[in-house]
Amino acid sequence: REQLAKGGQAQGRPAESPHKALFDLLEVTATFYKTSLKTHSQRNSAVDYLKSRGLTGEVARDFALGYAPKGWDNLLTHLQAKDDAGGANLTGIEQASSPDSEHKGIVATAIRAGVVVKNDAGRVYDRFRERIIFPIRDRRGRVIAFGGRVLGDDKPKYLNSPESPVFHKGRELYGLYEARRANRQLERLIVVEGYMDVIALAQAGISYAVATLGTATSTEHLERIFRMVPEVVFCFDGDEAGRKAAERALLNTLPTMADGRQARFLFLPSGEDPDTIVRSAGASAFLDRALAAKPLEDYLFECQASGLDLATMEGRATLSKRALPLLRQLPDGVYKTLMFQSLADRAGIDLESLKKLEVPDPPADTGYQEPPPAYDEAPPFHASSYAPSDEAADLVGETAPRQRDPLAKPMTVHATLTQSALALLLHKPSISQLVEAHTLQDLDSQEGKLLAAVLELLQKRPESTTGMLLGHWHGTTEGTLLAELAGQERLIPTEGIEAQFQDIMRKLATLPLRQRIVEEINSLKSRSYEQLTGDDRARLPELIRALRDLDTRSGPANN
Ligand code: UTP
Ligand code: MN
Repeated sequence: REQLAKGGQAQGRPAESPHKALFDLLEVTATFYKTSLKTHSQRNSAVDYLKSRGLTGEVARDFALGYAPKGWDNLLTHLQAKDDAGGANLTGIEQASSPDSEHKGIVATAIRAGVVVKNDAGRVYDRFRERIIFPIRDRRGRVIAFGGRVLGDDKPKYLNSPESPVFHKGRELYGLYEARRANRQLERLIVVEGYMDVIALAQAGISYAVATLGTATSTEHLERIFRMVPEVVFCFDGDEAGRKAAERALLNTLPTMADGRQARFLFLPSGEDPDTIVRSAGASAFLDRALAAKPLEDYLFECQASGLDLATMEGRATLSKRALPLLRQLPDGVYKTLMFQSLADRAGIDLESLKKLEVPDPPADTGYQEPPPAYDEAPPFHASSYAPSDEAADLVGETAPRQRDPLAKPMTVHATLTQSALALLLHKPSISQLVEAHTLQDLDSQEGKLLAAVLELLQKRPESTTGMLLGHWHGTTEGTLLAELAGQERLIPTEGIEAQFQDIMRKLATLPLRQRIVEEINSLKSRSYEQLTGDDRARLPELIRALRDLDTRSGPANN
């Protein structure tokens, strides 16, 4: 495969991406949607919808918006015709490694890219139908995925491409490429919730908004942002969900707050979003609010002091206990020192005593779990409908935890990954042949042992069915868990089960190592900076790098 990749490279050109076939296909797909918005016989409904949302052709062009026509195979037919005509080299080197053995060439690539779906009956069809299409581009401008919005009020409102070798939701920011292209010099980025917010702001002349793709803002997102600009403004809906999202963003921002960086928090009136605000109050009103948004330090102390009476000693003591572990997440520097000073002032203790306060339970260790986004609560699966639920495939990307927060409690990650692996095995026992059971020997949780046992059994008796597995453990605690997992349809993607399973197994294999690293990091972090020896201080970045390496090894890197 490598030889092929090298062979395909013209001399003197930069190394070609191993995912060239995927990128090419996604590009052709984006062009198809864009052209459909301009020329398809049914385009009027889409054009009218965009107009009703106040968008001009210029903005539609900047964001390369498109239209997926009604019907099950518009894209499929287009891709096949293009392939037959040899007009594009779309089948490339990837079919060799495609997990899908029944489909060859362009269809396999389209399935891997997530634009075509294959259902249980082996039938393939377009993922996006009768939707406005938002291409998601990486920082080099390559299309890596799509979002699609219904024209009316149907559900789900938005469909997104599933994770793929080139698309990792937890890393990408919608609109980042467009923001960089529109601004020679970026001073700040505004993080909003939705595709339409990004576009409405751009339409109003604020061309530096980005959106996370239905996930929380991760430390990885923030690192990416702060490498480009010194200031970020988060926009949240003023309701309960918005407040939760803000707290999560705060936690994930802390480790990235090196000196010279600023993060602000803007809370919009409940039920409003940046799109509705710019449309009702105008761009400058929105901007005034964004620039006057609460700095991280105010927000942090405000939220930690909520419900406390700082006039009492008890209130102040509780504030220190709550805030201290957060402040310890800050990278060393002037900002951190100032924050400690600020906490000392608020708590009415001197700085030295504050630093010596033992706080036994740092937040990095509480196994902080991201609640699923609200739309996860939509009924995930309708077995009876013609096409398998598109959301179900989307959900899986969210269910198997992204390991982007390197300090998330390892056992929590472990349990969920293990459960996902078990659910996949119960659904399709034959995938057990894809991995080796002994790679799991280091897992010492009960569930880890169960997974190893299930794998071992399946490898000994490959003909076993789901019923036989359930029967084998019937009447035991393990049996109860297995029965529960067998009923969890939301853990099963509509396609790419093999790839998903292999990915999870790869992650599980590196867990014990990850766990040892995280323990060492936590033990270093639980001491104050002054208590650390020179060696300790040098060790910390090494450990963090080791964790990152594990992350990039267990999932294919994105460019
Ligand atoms: P919202 O429900 O807030 O929608 O979802 P919105 O952006 O205001 O959409 P409009 O204005 O009605 O068009 C915010 C973001 O959450 C993700 C999308 O990324 C969306 O932009 N989302 C929402 C989904 O992925 N699926 C959904 O069904 C809904
Ligand atoms: Mn909206």
